[in-house]
Amino acid sequence: MKIAIIYHSESGNTQRMADLIRDGCLNVREIEPRCMPVDSIDEAFVVESAAIILGAPTYEGTCSWQMKKYLDTGPKGLSGKLGGVFVSQNWPGGGGASFAEMTIIAAMLVHGMLVYSGGISVGTPYLHFGAVSRKAPQEDLYRERCIKLGENIASKATELFGNK
Ligand SMILES: Cc1cc2nc3c(=O)[nH]c(=O)nc-3n(C[C@H](O)[C@H](O)[C@H](O)COP(=O)(O)O)c2cc1C
Repeated sequence: MKIAIIYHSESGNTQRMADLIRDGCLNVREIEPRCMPVDSIDEAFVVESAAIILGAPTYEGTCSWQMKKYLDTGPKGLSGKLGGVFVSQNWPGGGGASFAEMTIIAAMLVHGMLVYSGGISVGTPYLHFGAVSRKAPQEDLYRERCIKLGENIASKATELFGNK
């Protein structure tokens, strides 16, 4: 089962999160995850994917305009897929990451996706709306949350859609 991890990243922090989320997906059997920058998407892979995980840096309290542009310009292959989100920010005590996540989630819903994080229902490290990191995920907690998001999305996609 394919999972596309689509991200925008200017200075590499969100890209590091994407790599860890891919590692988390690989902890679930028969998952083929692939990371791709938002300006270089393998559309065929996205269309074949059962789940799409989207990530962006926080810009001015919401998701970067580059991710919003992707969501606003007719992205293909999102409808009916499981979705997850991840966001990098600089200011952990209110930089806007939650709002950035919800902006992406709102667009996912409009595109007909099923949104999931696992929340606090599947144990620690707890996720809320998705995975959040301050800058690149260097501290264990931020790294573990990224891996957990990948595991949660891959497990739920397998449960929902089987091993196709
Ligand atoms: C134009 C711009 C606006 C930003 N606005 C915020 C913000 O509102 N809150 C915040 O916490 N960080 C903000 N940042 C910091 C980035 O979210 C942070 O450095 C992020 O880790 C960058 O990710 P990247 O390396 O994947 O590009 C901003 C950065 C830029 C370039």
